[in-house]
Amino acid sequence: MQKLVIQGGKRLRGELDLQGAKNSALPILSASLLCDGESVFHNCPCLTDIYSALRILNSLGFKCSFSDNTATVKYNGICRSEIDGELMQEMRSSIIFLGAMLGRIKECTVSYPGGCELGSRPIDMHLDGFRKMGVDIREEYGKIICKVRDKIHGAKISLSFPSVGATENIILCAVLADGETVINNSAREPEICDLAGYLRKCGAKIKGDGESRIVINGVKKLNGCEYSIMPDRIAGATYLSATASTGGEIILKNACINAMESFTSMLESAGCSINTSGNTIYLRSGSCLKAIKNIKTMPYPGFPTDAQAILMASLLKAKGTSVFEENIFDCRYRHTDALIKMGADIQVIGKTAVVHGVKRLYGATVEATDLRGGAGVTIAGLSAEGTSIITGLNHIDRGYENFEKSLALLGADIKRTE
Ligand code: EPU
Repeated sequence: MQKLVIQGGKRLRGELDLQGAKNSALPILSASLLCDGESVFHNCPCLTDIYSALRILNSLGFKCSFSDNTATVKYNGICRSEIDGELMQEMRSSIIFLGAMLGRIKECTVSYPGGCELGSRPIDMHLDGFRKMGVDIREEYGKIICKVRDKIHGAKISLSFPSVGATENIILCAVLADGETVINNSAREPEICDLAGYLRKCGAKIKGDGESRIVINGVKKLNGCEYSIMPDRIAGATYLSATASTGGEIILKNACINAMESFTSMLESAGCSINTSGNTIYLRSGSCLKAIKNIKTMPYPGFPTDAQAILMASLLKAKGTSVFEENIFDCRYRHTDALIKMGADIQVIGKTAVVHGVKRLYGATVEATDLRGGAGVTIAGLSAEGTSIITGLNHIDRGYENFEKSLALLGADIKRTE
C-alpha cells in the first residue's frame, strides 16, 4: 500500500504549472466517441480516471494512446453496445459515456457508476432527459438497458437542479439528435463550456453554454479535431490553499483566473494577497490566516463543493471561527474525522461545519476517504507539526497529476513510499 509521508511545517514557495482539468477531460474524452476520424487532446492530465476513460473507449473499439499529456482517440467502428460493469465501477464519470453512446449508436447497456462516496448520487435527471429524447430505459439485475425505438429527437428538458453530469450527458446525446434540444436550468460550470468548445470545433451546433439555457441543434456528423483541455481550477485551488496554510508564496501558471474567482476571493478574505496577470496567479500569505464566517457551496459561479475540504484544511489554524455550509452533496464532510485526529476543532451538524481555529495541528496517520478530502488532509499535514502519513492514495491519484512532486517542488517535505 502506498502512503504519503509528510514532515509538516515547511513554508511553501515557488512556481507551478497547473495541470489540465480532470472534470473537463473526462466528458471531452466521452465526446470523442461521437466523432469520425481522430481527436488529439493536449494538456490532458495524467490521472487514473483518464486511464479509465481511455480503457472504456478501447473496450468499445476505439484506438487510443496517451503520452506526454497528449491523448489520441481514433474512431475504428464501435464493436459493442455494453460498457463492462468493472469499467463502470472505476469512476463516476463512466456514466457520461451513456449519452455519447446513445447519440452515436442509439443503444447502450451500463451498470450504476462508481466514484467518490459523497452521499447518494442518483442519475435520475440523466435518465429523465434521455427518455424525453426518445430513449426506452429499463433496469434488469442492476443493469440499465437503453434503446432508441425510432430515432433520438430533440426535446425541451428542464432540470430540477443544475446537475453538471446531467447537463453534459444530455448535450452528448443531443449533438447528433434530430432537431433542437433545449436544456433549462443547465449547469454553468466552465468545464461544460470546454466540452461545448470541443464539440463545436468538431462541427456541433451548441449555444448558451455558460448560461442557464443551452440550445443544441443536432447535426448529421462530427469530425475529430485537435483540442487543448482547460486548466484545472480545483487543482489550482488546492496548491493555492496549501501555500496559504503554510504562510508561503506561489506563482501559479497556466491558471483559469475567472473560473477560480469564487475561490481566490475567499483566500483574499482570509488575508492572502493575490495578484493576477494574464493566466498567472500570484499569492502571498501571512503567518496567520483569518477565519471566514460564511462559506456556502453552490453551483457555479458559486463557491465550488470540490474546494470545500481544501479551503477548510487551510483555515484550521485561522484566527476565529469559520462556518461552512455544504449544499451540493449530502455526505461531503468525511475528511473532518482525519482533520480532528490532527488536532482540528470542527463540529459538523447536518450540512454545516463549524471550524474553530486552533494554535497547532499535529502530524497523524490518516486516510484519504475521497479525492478532495484526501487533498484536504494532505494540506493539513503540510501545516502540522511532526510527521503525517496519508493512506488511501488511490483517491488522490484520480484527480492530481504528480501531486507530491508538485508540492515538493514548492518546498514541501513530502514523499510517496510503499
Ligand atoms: N443529482 C441528482 N440527480 C441526478 C444528478 C445529480 O439528484 O440525476 C444530485 C447529486 O446527487 C448531487 C447534485 O445533484 O447532490 C450535484 O451533482 P452533479 O450531477 O452536479 O455532480 P456530478 O456531475 O456527479 C460533477 C463533478 C464533481 C463535482 C460536481 C459538482 C465530474 C466528473 N464530477 O459531479 O467533481 O463535485 O460535479 O460540481 O465532473 C471531484 O472532482 O472531486 C468531483 C466529485
